[in-house]
Amino acid sequence: MTDSSQTVYDLIGAAGFERLIDAFYRRVAADPVLRPMYPEGDLAPAARRLRLFLEQFFGGPRTYNDERGHPRLRMRHNPFRIDQAARDSWVQHMLTALDEAGIADPARGMMQDYFERTATHMINTIMPE
Ligand code: HEM
Repeated sequence: MTDSSQTVYDLIGAAGFERLIDAFYRRVAADPVLRPMYPEGDLAPAARRLRLFLEQFFGGPRTYNDERGHPRLRMRHNPFRIDQAARDSWVQHMLTALDEAGIADPARGMMQDYFERTATHMINTIMPE
């Protein structure tokens, strides 16, 4: 049964976030624009940070805050040049990952809306004419 008080975490569980993040980072690893932005050679630590953040944001355990403190996402993205094209690639990979991970509505709709808005908020670089 689903009701409006259920969080995304209630709906998809830890396993849903794991499938999503696996699918997303497989795509990031193959993306010529996004892959070089990641400072560490190994994507696994970045994948874990994003998974913990999303679990927390969508109603799950607060491990992200325990380990990393307040997210301050826009500030943490300042070192990376994020333009419209990078934002669009990020969102496209995440939407495909939602499909691959088999995330169904209503969780999917809530997540898509959040990803599209937040990714736009991360843009910190204007593309050249
Ligand atoms: C718009 C395009 C985006 C790009 C190109 C991008 C890129 C990056 C990069 C390169 C990192 C550093 C990897 C690391 O953790 O070591 C990072 C970290 C992170 N990103 Fe993004 N990101 C984008 C959007 C988003 C969005 C929309 C979210 C949330 C929904 C997000 C959440 C995070 C989180 C939680 C971290 C780890 C922060 C920390 O604890 O240090 N990012 N991102």
